[in-house]
Formats: sequence, structure tokens, C-alpha cells
Amino acid sequence: MPQNQPHFYRGRFAVAPMLDWTTRHCRYFHRQFSRHALLYTEMVTAQAIIHAKYDHLDFDAAEHPVALQLGGSDPAQLKHCAQLAEQRGYQEINLNVGCPSDRVQNGMFGACLMAKPNLVAECVQQMQSAVQIPVTVKTRIGIDDFDSYDFLYNFVQTVKQVGCREFIVHARKAWLSGLSPKQNREIPPLDYERVYQLKRDFPDLLISINGGIKTIEEIQQHLQHVDGVMVGREVYQNPSLLGHIDQALFDPNAPIITPRQAVARMLPYIESQLSQGVYLNHIVRHMLGAFQNCKGARQWRRYLSENAYKEGAGIEVVETALGFVEE
Ligand SMILES: Cc1cc2nc3c(=O)[nH]c(=O)nc-3n(C[C@H](O)[C@H](O)[C@H](O)COP(=O)(O)O)c2cc1C
Repeated sequence: MPQNQPHFYRGRFAVAPMLDWTTRHCRYFHRQFSRHALLYTEMVTAQAIIHAKYDHLDFDAAEHPVALQLGGSDPAQLKHCAQLAEQRGYQEINLNVGCPSDRVQNGMFGACLMAKPNLVAECVQQMQSAVQIPVTVKTRIGIDDFDSYDFLYNFVQTVKQVGCREFIVHARKAWLSGLSPKQNREIPPLDYERVYQLKRDFPDLLISINGGIKTIEEIQQHLQHVDGVMVGREVYQNPSLLGHIDQALFDPNAPIITPRQAVARMLPYIESQLSQGVYLNHIVRHMLGAFQNCKGARQWRRYLSENAYKEGAGIEVVETALGFVEE
């Protein structure tokens, strides 16, 4: 067990930032399962915030604790966005140094920044100088042929020197050309030991591990070696996992939240959002996996998929779909 692991470290368990997936409605749903999991926004680019066609930073206070993930590599722009985010109440700013998509590389941010540790350090320094909340970095273990442990070590060491204390490491490298973002989440092999080594070499940093983690047992196993665990796809596809997190990781007296309870807690929120003109489908598309492994899960999913997008679809669609499920 890492010596400096605070029992209630904010990032002990986090739901990963996922573009198009961890929207505000998704985060609200996830929050119904767990009080303590740290929820990340989708990546929002500094450019998008600055050119604001709409309010990218809006969220519901009930989603807390929430971290904003920023994409960018212009220190002044990132500093400005960090200030805005702190004013809006986010509890952490995270810089994306892990996304390999072409669009992101053209904008010179995401995983390609691993090759520019001094620039990342400058970005982090600028953001930190403007806010009190933690500025963290989400990265990979390497990119392309820069995949030695020394490369990762030097990256972390450089960014650490400006005072960054928290790193979340997706335990596989990214290939910047030739693989799609989806393939880059599946093909490069996972190397958890590298992330453990990082924690051993930087015991004063808070290191979280990410990539391919699916069960409470696996999470607990990783927490023997690092400070935090971040899970993405498994939570999205099977959110009932989140219902066990508070009891297993934060508070033995916390209740386990069932999917039915979480969905029931969503109903007032859905009604309120519908009355503000939000489409039902924009909310329930994140709830399709709620009953994975329960009887009726397929009917739940199918009924919502076939009906929630229809003009005027309301809360009765969710209530009818719930009728198909046996927990
Ligand atoms: C649909 C989707 C979108 C993603 N978008 C982002 C993103 O915006 N920023 C980011 O840092 N990582 C993004 N990721 C990567 C995840 O945060 C995470 O690192 C990756 O999925 C590995 O974790 P997992 O195996 O638990 O899913 C995305 C992943 C998925 C599946």
C-alpha cells in the first residue's frame, strides 16, 4: 500500500472522460449510483470554450465532485479556461495528454504532447498560477516508438518540476498514426506494472491507473499499488458497477445502489430537463446499459432505443421500459 495514500483521496475512484459519453446528463446518472466517485467531463477544447458557441462549462451542482478535462496546448488559453472553470465550481482541471485522434493532433494537443514535456509543464504551470484547485494530467505510458520507461519517467519528472502532483496514466501507449482512437484503446497492450513502477519512483505524487479495469476486485488490487483507479468503458456499459463503489472503496456503511434505484432517482431530473426543452433521448441514451445482466435488460434497451428519440417522447417511455426489467 503506498505510504502516502490518503484514505479519502479525491481521485481514489474516477469515471474517465469520454467524448460524447460523459455528458452532463450521463454524469448526473452516474452520480445517482455513487456519492464519492470523481466524475470527469468529456474533453472540452480551450478553443471551444473561448469561441463559445454555447456554454461548454454548464453542469448541475448535483454532479459534484466534477473535474473538467481540457484539451489544448496554448498556455495562455488554458490559463484563461482554468480560471473560468474554477469560477464555475469545477473541483479539478485535467489536461488531456492521452487522446490520439487526428483532429487532436492537428490542434497539437492530446497524446502527441507527451513528446513535448516542457510545453506540458508550461501549460500546467500557467493553469496552476491562476487557480487554487488541483491541475492534473492524464497521459499514456508512451507514444509511437517513445515507449521506454525512461521516456515516461522523464515526462512525469519534467511536469512534476512545476508542481503538478497528480497524474492519471492510461496503461497503454498510443500509436499516433495508423490506428483509430478506438483501436488505440484496444490494440496496444496494457502494462500496469509500468504505472506501479511510476508510483514507486515518485512516492510523493498521486498516481492513478486507467485502462481495461472492470471489477471491484481488480480496482482493489490496483489500489494496493497506486493511489487511484479510473474506469471508463465498463462504467458506461455497465453502470451498476458504480453502485458498489462507495461501500467498497469509501465507506463500509454506504448502501449499495441498484440500477432500479438509480433510474428512479433520475425521473425528477428527466422531467425537469424535458420541461426545459431537452430531448429524452439525449438523457436516456446514457442509461441503456443500466440493467446489464438483469432479466429484461434487452427489452429495456430496445424499448428506449426505439421510442426515446420520437417527437414528444416523455417520462412514460422510461416508466414503460422499467416495467420490462426484473432485478
Ligand atoms: C467513447 C470514448 C471517448 C473517450 N474520450 C476521451 C476524452 O475525451 N478524453 C480522454 O482523456 N480520454 C478519452 N477516452 C479514453 C478514456 O478516458 C480511457 O482512458 C480509456 O477508455 C481506457 O479506459 P477504460 O478501459 O476503462 O475504458 C475516451 C474513451 C471512449 C471509449
